[in-house]
Amino acid sequence: MYKLILIIISLGFAINTTAEKKPDYTNAKLPTEVRVKDLMSRMTLEEKVAQMCQYVGISHMIGVQQTLTTKELETSDAAGYYPGYTIEDIREMTRKGLIGSFLHVVTPDEANYLQKLAQQSRLKIPLFIAIDALHGNGLYRGATIYPTAIGQAATFCPYLIEQMSRQTALEMRACGMQWAFAPNVEVARDPRWGRVGETFGEDPYLAGLMGSATVRGLQTAELKGQDKVLACIKHLVGGSLTSNGINGSPADMSERMLREVFLPPFIKCIEAGGMSLMPSHNDLNGIPCHGNRWLLDDLLRKELGFKGIIVSDWLDVERLNTIHTTASTKEEAYLTGLQAGIDVHMHGPGFAESVIKGVQEGKISPQTIDDRVAKILELKFNLGLFERPYVDLKAIPRSVLTDDHRQTALDIARRSIVLLKNKNQLLPLRKGHFNKIFITGHNADNQSTLGDWSFEQPDENITTILEGIKEQDPDAQIDFQDIGRNVRDLKPAQIEEAVKRAKQSELAILVVGENSMRYHWKEKTCGENSDRYELSLPGMQQQLVEAVVATGVPTIVILVNGRPLSTEWIANHVPAIIEAWEPGMLGGQAVAEILYGKISPSAKLPITIPRSVGQIGCYYNHKKWAYRFPYVTGTTAPLYNFGYGLSYTTFKYSRPRLSASTIAVGDSVRVSVDITNSGTVDGEEVVQLYIRDDYSSATRPVKELKGFERIALKAGETKTVSFLITPESLAYYDAQMRYGVEPGTFTVMVGSSSRKEDLQTLRLTVK
Ligand code: BGC
Repeated sequence: MYKLILIIISLGFAINTTAEKKPDYTNAKLPTEVRVKDLMSRMTLEEKVAQMCQYVGISHMIGVQQTLTTKELETSDAAGYYPGYTIEDIREMTRKGLIGSFLHVVTPDEANYLQKLAQQSRLKIPLFIAIDALHGNGLYRGATIYPTAIGQAATFCPYLIEQMSRQTALEMRACGMQWAFAPNVEVARDPRWGRVGETFGEDPYLAGLMGSATVRGLQTAELKGQDKVLACIKHLVGGSLTSNGINGSPADMSERMLREVFLPPFIKCIEAGGMSLMPSHNDLNGIPCHGNRWLLDDLLRKELGFKGIIVSDWLDVERLNTIHTTASTKEEAYLTGLQAGIDVHMHGPGFAESVIKGVQEGKISPQTIDDRVAKILELKFNLGLFERPYVDLKAIPRSVLTDDHRQTALDIARRSIVLLKNKNQLLPLRKGHFNKIFITGHNADNQSTLGDWSFEQPDENITTILEGIKEQDPDAQIDFQDIGRNVRDLKPAQIEEAVKRAKQSELAILVVGENSMRYHWKEKTCGENSDRYELSLPGMQQQLVEAVVATGVPTIVILVNGRPLSTEWIANHVPAIIEAWEPGMLGGQAVAEILYGKISPSAKLPITIPRSVGQIGCYYNHKKWAYRFPYVTGTTAPLYNFGYGLSYTTFKYSRPRLSASTIAVGDSVRVSVDITNSGTVDGEEVVQLYIRDDYSSATRPVKELKGFERIALKAGETKTVSFLITPESLAYYDAQMRYGVEPGTFTVMVGSSSRKEDLQTLRLTVK
């Protein structure tokens, strides 16, 4: 009897454990590979392909349906709209586990809501929620908004960018988002292109350091845990080398240019562990990047060893059919994209159906799908999504817009604002010196300082430039003329009014530039899909500046813009000019602190500013012949050089020293220089190292940035900076496209900008 009871008990236990045993993939203690394998073994083909499908969020769909006309919805591919699908259809697909990720979900409530729908699906696979968090989680209302990438690059301080990105990751996770479509590491060589402001400028070395700092901040060394987010290295490649300034226009570039200029930042981000990547809209030498197997598979995966997932950009797979016409049907486009290497399709229906059909017809092997889906699931497991798909709404304030995040936004802004001109030391302003100050300009008192990829933020979170000035100089009598935010819409009567009021003042501050506010799509002149064929101030802003300067009142121009503006007249006639870029939520404070000398400016230009659009191609690291002759109509010298930026103090450079003047191929050498703050105020300086290969089997640039260091120096203080020149600093692709160091002489240049007169040179021989 006792035996029988035992048997019954153990049988019951066995039956119980089988009935209650949870699937392995839900067990967080098991290794990720085991969980992925287990989950995959339970998935249908349809469920697997669903993991490769990304849709825009429901509120986004509702939003565009409310704001656009039916005709606009049908014709605009910028709208998140899926003809034939209702919002209820999208909900139902999520409930059935037929959508793997969403983008443009901008509230934590919606993120939770969508996850809840996904948790009703058979396998309860959580969703990836992706967002364009390029300078903070800017599409979320209430986030910390840091300066845009062009300003970040102007800091020459990767450490701060890593810190910003870590904070962004924390803010994203608190809001239910785990995939950042950042960084954009395209090398910006055409300022007509509206997206320059979301890049780190024209230099591959600087873009590589800033981009990899972003990846490290978002992902950290190990992309595991609930405080990390997946970074997305974008856009591969050539979108920034437009044929006419237009976003997505064809890029024709030699393999040499690809490897020497455009690819290096991507390589640095891959080395930093970047686990997702987005191809660019354009075609590269005739083959659209989204269908380019050589680019996405041979080069990216096989040669560069990229291990992450490739997400297509907004409808770009479809565009193989609709714009590039390299595919005669959408179905063909989906298969081409998939075969080229796309793992996740952004956005909408069509892809899943074609891929499933492709597998059923034997055109795509099931293994290909399994391999792709396994990578996506691995990331979801590692990021802890299965354990915690939801976020605690009450906990958000603990992680978002915290004091230290705001401090970082301010620290970056202070170091991102470039002082371009300061005749007769008009700046810094002394409190009480100018009592009556006239301020105007479209960008003086609104959120244009936030730049692209930010939605409108609560006003109380933002310090505008006008507010910043009032805080710095509370006793000054400020006369502010509000001319509206639309930079294209200045009226002659407003200019006349400005002249009148400027005449009654002792100082005029004009805050002019561009507008990247994507929520005012029809007004913006800068940012995504806002390309230009000239680089002057939009609208009648130039006339405004000229009219105010003509009054004889001392005038300061503050530029707020995401791309270089050709402001030659201003450079010649205005005594003080500040390039603020898009300095973020505390940009107004930082600008004002610089105006009043609380902070000595220390940013350096990460991109050359041309005199006119006709100079385009005027990046500092040009080939030796490029500027051999002046134009018959004028100089080839740009308006402001890469690496340039003034300070309120002066820095004296000692003669630089090489640890050896001759080295063997493969050896490294050190160059050192002492820098003294020879002025009367404390300041920071960005010490720069450039190298030129004097003679080479293939033509080389006149100089290339190979090192930089930002240092803080108290008045009178001296510090030594030393750079290690490694084989990588000297290597290039020779005439046979072999990468390495060619023996010969190299000119080593150290100084405060890329301008010839700011550099001291040394000769290094490699034997
Ligand atoms: C842009 C991408 C962005 C995507 C999603 C596209 O138009 O090119 O950079 O990540 O939209 O917003």
